Amino acid sequence: MTNLFVDFQNQVEVIKVRCADGEITEAERDATLRKMQLKDEWGDIWMLSPTGEWFRQASGSKEWVRDHPIAIIDPSTLPPVSEMNLPQIARAVHDCARCPLAQQGRSRAVPGEGNPKADIMLIGEGPGFHEDKQGRPFVGASGKFLNELLNEAGYKRQDVFITNVIKCRPPNNRDPEPEELEACKPYLDRQIELINPKVIVTLGRFSMYRFFPGASITKIHGQPQRMGNRLVVPMFHPAAALHQVRWRPLIIEDFRRLPQFVAEMTIVRKSEKSNSSDPEQMSLF
Ligand code: URA
Repeated sequence: MTNLFVDFQNQVEVIKVRCADGEITEAERDATLRKMQLKDEWGDIWMLSPTGEWFRQASGSKEWVRDHPIAIIDPSTLPPVSEMNLPQIARAVHDCARCPLAQQGRSRAVPGEGNPKADIMLIGEGPGFHEDKQGRPFVGASGKFLNELLNEAGYKRQDVFITNVIKCRPPNNRDPEPEELEACKPYLDRQIELINPKVIVTLGRFSMYRFFPGASITKIHGQPQRMGNRLVVPMFHPAAALHQVRWRPLIIEDFRRLPQFVAEMTIVRKSEKSNSSDPEQMSLF
């Protein structure tokens, strides 16, 4: 595996594979990769499916999830964050040392995962114990509840993209410091830019503050706000709703409205697109 590098462009597409002895054809590449189960430095196992998608089984987990095999991206080839694609962001986040969290007991950074073309992006606070072990967002108790909430709304976890405002676990799950949030901001900004979701759901205080500084979740939860070409909807954090039973029906109700928010933004984007390509409309400006 160490002599195998995969170059990515356009999100998750594998463009070419270089082996120690030079480039191989796409067919040779796929045949080679499908015969291999690649184990990365964290003990995760990677597989290339017959349909050309990569799947990862995190060590300690039985679940196979669609993901980017960042472990086989050559780190020396990374461009600036503002020009990275999603696998490159994941690679950079895994190696990131922009803030003290890298040295404060992080097992693994958690860049985020999911559909690179998702209509909905969920932004939580930061990894907890289980996320730090598996390198995946929302895989503990609150993640289980989040999966249920998504199902309630008619979505599967793999339909959406899930990430956090900070990508490394703070010691003892303490609140993130301002400089830690600032250090992670370029990654989140670029993820939002690349995925371009119609709807962003903020989960938790620090995620909400990024879009609604100083707001109170009990006052604004479930109320979408138009920001540019998307809606941002603050919602209760699943962990908070697990502990505060009275918030459960509220978070369920808020999640159930997600398809409606997506539909609204689909119409808005379509009409904006057709207006901008309508010569009569264009001549008005
Ligand atoms: N809580 C969060 O905010 N994010 C996670 O990834 C897990 C728990």
